[in-house]
Amino acid sequence: MTTVFDDCARRYSDEVQSSIDFSGLRHDFFLAAKADVLARVLRDHFGAAKPSAALDIGCGIGLLHPHLAPLFEELVAVDSSAASIEQARRSNPGVAYATSDGSLPYGDETFDVVLAVCVIHHVPPGDWHAFAGEMHRVTRKGGLICVIEHNPLNPLTRLAVSRCSFDADAVLLTAGRTRALLEKAGGSSIRTEFFLILPSRRPLAASIEKSLARLPLGAQYIVSAKA
Ligand SMILES: C[S@@+](CC[C@H](N)C(=O)[O-])C[C@H]1O[C@@H](n2cnc3c(N)ncnc32)[C@H](O)[C@@H]1O
Repeated sequence: MTTVFDDCARRYSDEVQSSIDFSGLRHDFFLAAKADVLARVLRDHFGAAKPSAALDIGCGIGLLHPHLAPLFEELVAVDSSAASIEQARRSNPGVAYATSDGSLPYGDETFDVVLAVCVIHHVPPGDWHAFAGEMHRVTRKGGLICVIEHNPLNPLTRLAVSRCSFDADAVLLTAGRTRALLEKAGGSSIRTEFFLILPSRRPLAASIEKSLARLPLGAQYIVSAKA
């Protein structure tokens, strides 16, 4: 089946950039911010040890992978769009890619870390529990499940989503909804952080962000759960 992401794989970066141009920032700034938050959450969970294998579900054209690959011994990634996977593979030869939609082609407890970055809002709500269940199933006991999503309570996030053609089907989830999904799937020690409150590289912005991370202000949030 061809997905909307197959149709837009070649112009994906341009589409995202034009939806966030009003911020005056490049898309790579937002990708780096997601990777930074993720790296901190991983350090808090695993300490100094590098997690061995990670799975990134809904990886798109692999734009995050130059940032993510150094965080793991091995990075595996899937997407339901074959055209996106083809492009991701060309850009990131060190990552193991596969197409997948729905049930994941991996055994139980295969990965230390399982991620879904800005994916669940494209999954039909009736499939959200099954999606979270699959994330949990392929994560090793004691490993970490991480979901990064748009924060629907942030007006600038809503503006960006309304300007993005491939977000026409998007059903945004609050952080509370995502927490509930991961908890129902069997996750524990669930933690939520909001980020991109002050989109700026200045060190002061980073420390203000950290101190406000519990308030639902940021453009994005991360929910992590121990499997
Ligand atoms: C907005 S893009 C995010 C891409 C990437 N995670 C990033 O942050 O740059 C959402 C991606 O999720 C994929 N997707 C949607 N539902 C999926 C599913 N059930 N399984 C795998 N991929 C899915 C889409 O094909 C698309 O590439």
